Amino acid sequence: MSEGAGKKEEKPRKFQAIRGTRDLLPPETLLWNRVEQTAHEVFGTFGYGEIRVPIFEPTELFARAVGGETDIVSKEMYTFSNPKSLPAMVREGRTEGTLAEMLPEAEMISLRPEATASVCRAYIEHNMQQQPQPVKLYYMGPMFRRERPQKGRYRQFYQIGAEVLGGSDAPAIDAEVIEMVMTFFGRLELQGVQLDINSIGDRNCRPKYVELLRAELLKVKDKLGPDSQRRIETNPLRVLDSKLESEQAIIAKLPHIADHLCEECAAHYAAVKHQLEMRGVIYRENWRLVRGLDYYMRTTFEITAQGLGSQNAVCGGGRYDGLVELLGGPPTKGIGFAIGEDRLILSLQESTSSLSASGKGAVATGRDVYIAWMGERAHATAIRAAKDLRKAGFSVELPPVEQKFGKALGQADKLGAKYALILGDNEVSEGLWTLKTLADGSQAKLTEPDLLNFLKREKAKADPSLRSG
Ligand code: HAM
Repeated sequence: MSEGAGKKEEKPRKFQAIRGTRDLLPPETLLWNRVEQTAHEVFGTFGYGEIRVPIFEPTELFARAVGGETDIVSKEMYTFSNPKSLPAMVREGRTEGTLAEMLPEAEMISLRPEATASVCRAYIEHNMQQQPQPVKLYYMGPMFRRERPQKGRYRQFYQIGAEVLGGSDAPAIDAEVIEMVMTFFGRLELQGVQLDINSIGDRNCRPKYVELLRAELLKVKDKLGPDSQRRIETNPLRVLDSKLESEQAIIAKLPHIADHLCEECAAHYAAVKHQLEMRGVIYRENWRLVRGLDYYMRTTFEITAQGLGSQNAVCGGGRYDGLVELLGGPPTKGIGFAIGEDRLILSLQESTSSLSASGKGAVATGRDVYIAWMGERAHATAIRAAKDLRKAGFSVELPPVEQKFGKALGQADKLGAKYALILGDNEVSEGLWTLKTLADGSQAKLTEPDLLNFLKREKAKADPSLRSG
């Protein structure tokens, strides 16, 4: 009798990815890799170096940088206690001290909801202010926010971002950062790209504008929804972000920040616009663009693209002078952006027809060569052939067990292979291999070196960029 007999048979639990997370599968991952490779290339040409920061950090870092009242920090972070430090700190009664002293032992840690705070932390930690300024860094990787999942909005999502830290706040820096994103999107042939810019002032002029806005909002409070009513107190600027249909007419009558910028901010904004024009970057001014993170000042921008529905912001960014100082570093200028990679990919997929028409968006799914072998001697030759073909850059499928040729060819077809290399005892003893082109069924007998040359020539025909001079 087996052990489990007599017991009610329990079905093993079927696991599924947690809500708001998902698997990225081939062939889609080829597109992800192409996007990331393009980012490495384009950002490299602008002199940026890659930084990789941890996926979790002290909660306090994000609370300080992004802002305790923001949706991200107040509702959306995945936070847990750091089991080692928490009891130790409590046991030893070490709950006082400056933020800098507390940070290394912060009791709560969070999965990163964004990476700007981490990059600033790293800038301070590694004394990057001693390097030639500005320091230009980019990153890519997963971020975590407990938002309500929908198309283009996930709880684990991916960003590709860049930050410029230190040096001056010259408007040309703002413009070049924006030019870089637009160049990247251009290289990917992203469709329907729309760049919105704004200036939200600085410590001098913004508080006065916020007060004016609050006063105006209080007059119409009854006509606003509960979220906006709450924001009159917590962050009136965020009311401008509202997408509620019923609030649009009210918002349209509110004072514009552009009319309330101090002289320095107004001059900076005018110069950023001029610098964008010098670079041929087309923008639209959007006075309601305030962004949902607290660290911004002066320049803010957002980019939308086609095919994304309501979650259509594919990139957001802005200037954040003062953030490094807020995190315990020296006074430092800063500006950057983050692209939502999931949304970028969605938008690219929506327009695949136009992309594949140009050849660049076409994603190869199949193998170049399927090796159909029969017999022990042929197996040894097949293993060697696979090694040589892969070394030459071809994608090769080598079946692990012998198959009848008919079945092997069927399998090759299903995998979308371009060629089947047929290796039986005859082929091996004659030294002439049979190569079948699966698209038209034609066959050729080739020696080993001829085979390699033939495949290389055919590949170059299909992709002219591989043709040598
Ligand atoms: P953010 O606007 O919060 O800015 O996010 C940037 C982009 O990330 C968004 O425009 C969107 O494409 C994508 N994104 C955000 N949340 C989600 C989500 N739940 N699912 C899918 N995609 C999402 C920042 O994170 C700043 N750190 C950007 C920055 C860098 N500013 C200065 N430097």
